[in-house]
Amino acid sequence: MNIKNKSKIEFKNLLVTGGCGFIGSNFIRYLINNKNYSGKIINVDCLTYAGNPENLADIAADYSSRYIFQKVNICDLKKLEKIFSKYDIDAVCHFAAESHVDRSIKAPGNFIQTNIIGTFNLLEVSKARGDEFRLFHHVSTDEVYGSLGAKGFFRENTPYRPNSPYSASKAASDHLVRAYCKTFSLPVTISNCSNNYGPYQFPEKLIPLIILNALEGKPLPVYGDGKNVRDWLYVEDHCEAIWRIMTTGDKGETYNIGGNAEMENILIVQMICDILDEIKPAGNGRPRRNLIAFVKDRPGHDRRYAIDFSKLKKELNWSPKESFDSGLRKTINWYLHHKKWIKNIKNGTYLKWIKEQYG
Ligand code: NAD
Ligand code: DAU
Repeated sequence: MNIKNKSKIEFKNLLVTGGCGFIGSNFIRYLINNKNYSGKIINVDCLTYAGNPENLADIAADYSSRYIFQKVNICDLKKLEKIFSKYDIDAVCHFAAESHVDRSIKAPGNFIQTNIIGTFNLLEVSKARGDEFRLFHHVSTDEVYGSLGAKGFFRENTPYRPNSPYSASKAASDHLVRAYCKTFSLPVTISNCSNNYGPYQFPEKLIPLIILNALEGKPLPVYGDGKNVRDWLYVEDHCEAIWRIMTTGDKGETYNIGGNAEMENILIVQMICDILDEIKPAGNGRPRRNLIAFVKDRPGHDRRYAIDFSKLKKELNWSPKESFDSGLRKTINWYLHHKKWIKNIKNGTYLKWIKEQYG
């Protein structure tokens, strides 16, 4: 069906989970500035180490009638019930998750709780809204499909083969969402996206970690032989895709989202070194590539991810706007101009601030 013939769905009170994290905060920023959405945004986030309300401090100040923050854990069903009824929630965009693969290998417990039980709770309270409820959008990952060889792409009908506790917990949550649609006719959409990068990403993930280490002259850890491949998407492109799916996607459908930017890890690390050498040469004058350190591989490290997003392109007319080179330069510039944000994360100031503000 042509996108022009699709009727757009509208929401009044959208609950966004994990809105203080990397993608969630970019999504709220995108949506609050979007002239096609005039409703409220209720951000539910329990502020783990990865949740930073500073990401949205300006939005909280400028849009206090439309943006509401609630420090709540999605594993707390009673609190969710209260929020859904108090704010008359008619749609959910679900980002909240434990999201870092390395942490899921060291300590999987929280991944099971948040990613599976938390999603189950949200589905239950959404179902309880009955006919008033318009949409549950579940934000998921391409990692549920497992690992590719040198050729081929993940498609929406690729069988699930998750390899890490993180991806297994996300796969479980995808299945629950789908099951609530089939069994209870809950209106849902699901998106499975490739690796994101851009502003506000917590510096434990490859790109921000390498940028900050390179600026500080620290070693740049590359796992294994550095030839693992990921498909990279600039975060604003992801936000636009999610909104397109939420407003014009077909209920019960899954859409893959990708960046058309397959890249070996080592190449990304080298690009970051070269861009930084060009725009902010190291004090000692040495090329930053000298800092690259090959380290022990991640257990069960998926070799290659690549996304076929032709369904989203064909049916909903979405394609990424940013090239990897332009997106990476924007990202590096963002980190160069947000020293206070980085300092606050590094010295835990923001965690102290959260305690003062929210107990
Ligand atoms: P993130 O780790 O930066 O943010 C997660 C947010 O969820 C944080 O604000 C955290 O405080 C909150 N949170 C965690 N547990 C919670 C709980 N129990 N209750 C309430 N809030 C909780 O993650 P991200 O990179 O922004 O990813 C967001 C979503 O997108 C996740 O579902 C992830 O699986 C998915 N995803 C991420 C990527 C990526 O490259 N980062 C790619 C595809 C899909
Ligand atoms: O594909 C989507 C997924 O992308 C999301 O679902 C996850 O939430 C997100 O964290 C991301 O997972 P990855 O494991 O791919 O991202 P990460 O940034 O941790 O690693 C990217 C690649 O870089 C991966 O092959 C591991 C490698 N790596 C990572 C780190 C942190 C290194 O070589 N060195 C590092 O220090």
